[in-house]
Amino acid sequence: MRLNYVKTDPWKIIEDSFNPNQVEASESIFSLGNGAMGHRANFEEQYSGKTFQGSYAAGVYYPDKTKVGWWKNGYPKYFAKVINAPNWIGIDVYCNKAVVDLNTATIHDFRRTLDMQSGLYNRTVTLTTSKGIKLTINSSRFLTLFQEELGCIKYSVKLHEHEAQIKICPYIDSSIKNKDSNWNDQFWEYMGQGSDDNFAILHNKTSKSEFDLCTYQGVSFYLNSEPSGAYSCKEIEGRIAFEMEVNLAPHEEIVVEKMGGYCTSLQQPQKKHQNHVKKIVQVALQKGFDALLDLQKKQWDKIWEMADISIEGDIKAQQGIRFNIFQLNQTYTGKNPLLNIGPKGFTGEKYGGSTYWDTEAYCFPFYMATKNELVAENLLNYRYNHLEKAIENASKLGFTDGAALYPMVTMNGEECHNEWEITFEEIHRNAAIAFAIYNYERYTGKTVYFETKGIDVLVGVVRFWTQRMNFSVQKNQYVILGVTGPNEYENNVDNNWYTNYAAKWCLEYVCIRLAQILKEKPNVHKAIYDRLGLSKSEVLDWKEKSIGIYLPYDSRHGVFLQQDGFLDKDLKKASLIPSTQRPLNQHWSWDRILRSPYIKQADVLQGFYFFEDHFSSDQLKNNFDFYEPYTVHESSLSPSIHAVLAASLGRVEQAYNFYLQTSRLDLDDYNAEVDEGLHITSMAGTWISIVEGFGGMRIKNDAIYFSPQLPKAWDSFSFKINFRNSVIELSVSKKNSSLRLIEGVPVSVFLNKKQVILNAESSIKHP
Ligand code: BGC
Repeated sequence: MRLNYVKTDPWKIIEDSFNPNQVEASESIFSLGNGAMGHRANFEEQYSGKTFQGSYAAGVYYPDKTKVGWWKNGYPKYFAKVINAPNWIGIDVYCNKAVVDLNTATIHDFRRTLDMQSGLYNRTVTLTTSKGIKLTINSSRFLTLFQEELGCIKYSVKLHEHEAQIKICPYIDSSIKNKDSNWNDQFWEYMGQGSDDNFAILHNKTSKSEFDLCTYQGVSFYLNSEPSGAYSCKEIEGRIAFEMEVNLAPHEEIVVEKMGGYCTSLQQPQKKHQNHVKKIVQVALQKGFDALLDLQKKQWDKIWEMADISIEGDIKAQQGIRFNIFQLNQTYTGKNPLLNIGPKGFTGEKYGGSTYWDTEAYCFPFYMATKNELVAENLLNYRYNHLEKAIENASKLGFTDGAALYPMVTMNGEECHNEWEITFEEIHRNAAIAFAIYNYERYTGKTVYFETKGIDVLVGVVRFWTQRMNFSVQKNQYVILGVTGPNEYENNVDNNWYTNYAAKWCLEYVCIRLAQILKEKPNVHKAIYDRLGLSKSEVLDWKEKSIGIYLPYDSRHGVFLQQDGFLDKDLKKASLIPSTQRPLNQHWSWDRILRSPYIKQADVLQGFYFFEDHFSSDQLKNNFDFYEPYTVHESSLSPSIHAVLAASLGRVEQAYNFYLQTSRLDLDDYNAEVDEGLHITSMAGTWISIVEGFGGMRIKNDAIYFSPQLPKAWDSFSFKINFRNSVIELSVSKKNSSLRLIEGVPVSVFLNKKQVILNAESSIKHP
């Protein structure tokens, strides 16, 4: 069922009524993160209704022993799961000794807002408790961007017409479980705790993976705006609470400011945790919630100044893109090369919080264009640093001589995924990693990364492809058998066009670049050959194979075939499927899905997206018109790519519909699963759909191109791009499109195919 309770607003996400059936969805939608930690929008006070409690510390995982029906050789031993971390946001409230619980209270008023300009989450609820006392709870919280271990909460309880005894207990608690534990393992080990006046700390260690994590809180209480020290501390093993109990007269208010969060061994050695977070708490409590919020706003201002996309005339579309940009910035800041972007970020447990091809295929362009180049480099380094593990991973499957297969899912470079049809067969992921290296070179114009690190990754990848393909005597060409393409509604197919084409491209790219380097920098060429043990004959073999790869094609329809035999399917269009049977993956048996022609996400069309210059627009049109009608877009990654391609075909209104789907996928819950968490990686696809779709941005031959189109529903849109040390702004209105150099050096740009040099004085317009 689609959600439609989120109110539209250009900068805020708003829910203005309480419905117990939408609590879990809202817990996802109102999630907070700061790149180092994050949590779902769980209530601070106890809630006995349906809820999905989730708080997460970046990079801290538990290797949960693999559970499969039937073991296959080559399966990884564990699935790394980002662990549900101890609770630091909790505040129990009692009124006349009875617990305050929204599930049992009568709710009069309920409103939450997430202010994307400041990262502030606020919730106000007026209720009558089960014992007949009316009160209002107001809670605000944010996770600071300037101090990644720190989150701030201001929580108040105010009585209405009756007096009552109120007890308010901010606590930290480590008795936490993951929803998706395979064997009911205890993920956390208790390592100790401590407290003094207004500070409390719990020490835990993850079992097996041995990450240390401390959970802490510091508190200040206020009674009718005056600081109050009338509270006590209650400790049991794994839980520390400060408790303040007062008799409040009508209209009196009690407030607690709670500063807390996590520090992990990825940030500081365990020995230093206590002193480190204690200092943070002291400074934070002294500054106070409101002053810290001002600092937070300044940090978000900086982010928005570069990354905002403004859309005039269509609030739904505006809210959608800002929500996506906001969540991407909450998930990954690019500061720590050990971290990456999990498909659910800090908003849920599905996908284990690990790294997928999503990062390179979808997220990379966003971070490259809205952040400093080092952030993109950190993402590339993540895979470079995992090269040895990728080689090891391939060798477990029988590949040799430095062939590298990057994992489908990983936390630390090791494969975690354990469905044979994906783990062993969804090998196209290797090409996305290669493509990101190409994308980085194309975007930055810098070749050093390729020469020193990128080529090492590429050679591993290419060695894998050359071993994974085999020569078919019947076809007299090289084939790649037994694969799963991006469309996971097909498994174990032969000659998935996308995979074959991407493999061919990898081989060609490496051969071309090596030849260039030989010509321009023979010393570097020699160093690469020596470092990687390359020989002329090996590279010649790559060339020969790149020419000889089989690419399935059907001349009758004028399309590339998604895989051998695709046309044997019962080719009924997706529009004929009754809406009660969608999404298919929640209604059909897997067997029925596999035999159907239905496509989960761009597959052949993913190839057209990556390699668009290799094909004519007629080819794009044929393939788009052939495949899109079978596509059910049941992966969050699907609509964005279709938006870009539709825009390339000049079908701006169709692109607009795809745009709404991708940008509001979670806000409107298109795939009926937002309660599990947000689709963070696909949010970067939303950004792509505006920048590359409606903005028509491309990087070619060391220049940046724009060919804008405006959907009918919009009066205008604009965004900024950080390209080679220059910040360029594109503004598109019904009258014209214009480009402005906001910062940096003059830059060569093409607007609707017309070239100009954009400098500080000039701004170019095109009617
Ligand atoms: C998609 C994959 C994607 C994964 C994580 C799956 O549903 O089919 O392409 O990597 O989700 O986002």
